[in-house]
Amino acid sequence: MHRTHNCGELRLPDAGKRVSLCGWIQRSRDFGGMTFTDLRDRYGITQLVFNMDENPVVCKKARELGREFVVRVTGTVAERSNKNLKLPTGEIEIIVAETEVLSKSELPPFTIEDETDGGDELRMKYRYLDLRRATVRDNIILRHRMAREVRAYMDGEGFIDVETPVLYKSTPEGARDYVVPSRIHPGEFYALPQSPQTLKQLLMVAGFDRYYQIVKCFRDEDLRADRQPEFTQIDCEMSFVTQDDILNTFEGLARHLFRQIKGLEFPEPFRRMPYSEALAMYGSDKPDLRFGMEIHDITGLVKGKDFPVFDQADYIGSISCPGASEFTRKQTDELTEFVKRPQVGAKGLVYIKYSSDGSAKSSVDRYYSQPELEALVKNAGARPGDLVLILAGERGSTLKALGELRLEMGNRLGLRDRSRFVPVWVVDFPLLEWDNEAGRYFAMHHPFTSPKPEDSMLLESDPGSVRANAYDLVINGVEIGGGSVRISDSNLQKQMFRVLGFTDEEAQKQFGFLLNAFRYGAPPHGGIAFGFDRWTALMGGSDSIRDFIAFPKNNSARDIMIDSPSPVTDTQLDELSLRIADRRKR
Ligand code: AMO
Repeated sequence: MHRTHNCGELRLPDAGKRVSLCGWIQRSRDFGGMTFTDLRDRYGITQLVFNMDENPVVCKKARELGREFVVRVTGTVAERSNKNLKLPTGEIEIIVAETEVLSKSELPPFTIEDETDGGDELRMKYRYLDLRRATVRDNIILRHRMAREVRAYMDGEGFIDVETPVLYKSTPEGARDYVVPSRIHPGEFYALPQSPQTLKQLLMVAGFDRYYQIVKCFRDEDLRADRQPEFTQIDCEMSFVTQDDILNTFEGLARHLFRQIKGLEFPEPFRRMPYSEALAMYGSDKPDLRFGMEIHDITGLVKGKDFPVFDQADYIGSISCPGASEFTRKQTDELTEFVKRPQVGAKGLVYIKYSSDGSAKSSVDRYYSQPELEALVKNAGARPGDLVLILAGERGSTLKALGELRLEMGNRLGLRDRSRFVPVWVVDFPLLEWDNEAGRYFAMHHPFTSPKPEDSMLLESDPGSVRANAYDLVINGVEIGGGSVRISDSNLQKQMFRVLGFTDEEAQKQFGFLLNAFRYGAPPHGGIAFGFDRWTALMGGSDSIRDFIAFPKNNSARDIMIDSPSPVTDTQLDELSLRIADRRKR
């Protein structure tokens, strides 16, 4: 046996025991007669003591141990005189009698500690070293615990885990596909699934009733902190259910995960907010409800005072930022710069400082008298001490910009507390969205999403106003998951494809397998998929999903550790009947 204990388990009552530990050398401090060394493994850190007076041979060996050497030590557990109560093992140390180097290490390219000196690229190149750091390791363990709890809940609710193929065909989520050339069918390609959407619907037609899978999905899209080219979904589908049944079942999953992972209970049912309300009040379909600062429509209140920016605007909205009336000129200038960023897209910012004494001072004093300003801030829901921020322009884009500004102010005022979780179901999404460039409607969720029955007669006459039986679970402003009640009638599905601009032949060619399946008895069904990486990152208190994936890709979809993607040999290209059109492009 290599070891009797791991590096995280010995405590004061173990004092006097003879033990063997294995692990990596974290660091050593040499005080002449004594060397103190931290030994680390997955479970923790234990202090080793090498004493020159008592064991000079071992002590000399200790001085040769470099960072990240893998060693085995045997010794006696002793009470520490200088206790470190921050470490679970901090009351004891091991007086080492024997030591054996199991594997030497070169000097690591960065320090293996919580605060490391390694930049992002370096950490990714040596990901196996990065994974030794306690913070990253704990994230991966959190992911494991989440997966275990998802399985426990889903199994308890009667869901069957069914694996679906990875070498598949284009699926309808709307990103670019990753494609895989076929050797035995020259010129033909598989597509990696963007989600198992069509397959889980086929499983419902097959009668499985309740399906789930923790599954890899692949999307070639612009990457951000919360997007990876390959990511994991908790993918779910149910038969003979209404939207309410689905929301209740998965609210149960959310409650189970928060209880098991964070020890949190939510006494109230999750709020359900129509999409139109989310946009009007929070400027986003994924509102962060940890703080208020709702948007107020003040269009009617401010027009007609000869201020051209307002008079010409389609929509004028405001947010009131608590306790920010004392913001300096520099701070309001920064906010103006913020709203002008291309990602936010506003032309300028108007502000009113509503002082604690009740007076109001604005950047447009020229157009509004003092009583007008005071009436305005009151009607906009502001309280003394608030800074009222106003944007004007086209309604949709102005609401979106106000939503961004609201989040920025939430950050600046410290209102986005990572230890609080506020879930909301956003419901009643529009079925379709118009794309100016393509000159046609696209499915907002995907083409299998059903219209609300009361809106479906508008499908031909006014498609843009049809609402869908579609919903997202949003927590703290993060879209954790989304799904819908599906179309299970082949005629309605064909009609939907026509609205989306597919001819019957095109629809048959791309999705014929599903349309055909619906001809053989399709139960009413619906489901949802959660972003597993996102949910884990949220539980771990981070916006970036990368640190919760053992081997992630960087922002240009590259794995710099294994250097992938990389060219293949000419022989492989020949076998696949492929020729690279322009090598310089690579
Ligand atoms: P959707 O496309 O909304 O729905 O995806 C479901 C959830 O997956 C997560 N997600 C991602 N996470 C990391 N990186 C990405 N690139 C990425 N893309 C999406 C999000 C999102 O909410 N088949 C439907 C689900 C259904 O209708 O049942 C689907 O895939 O958290």
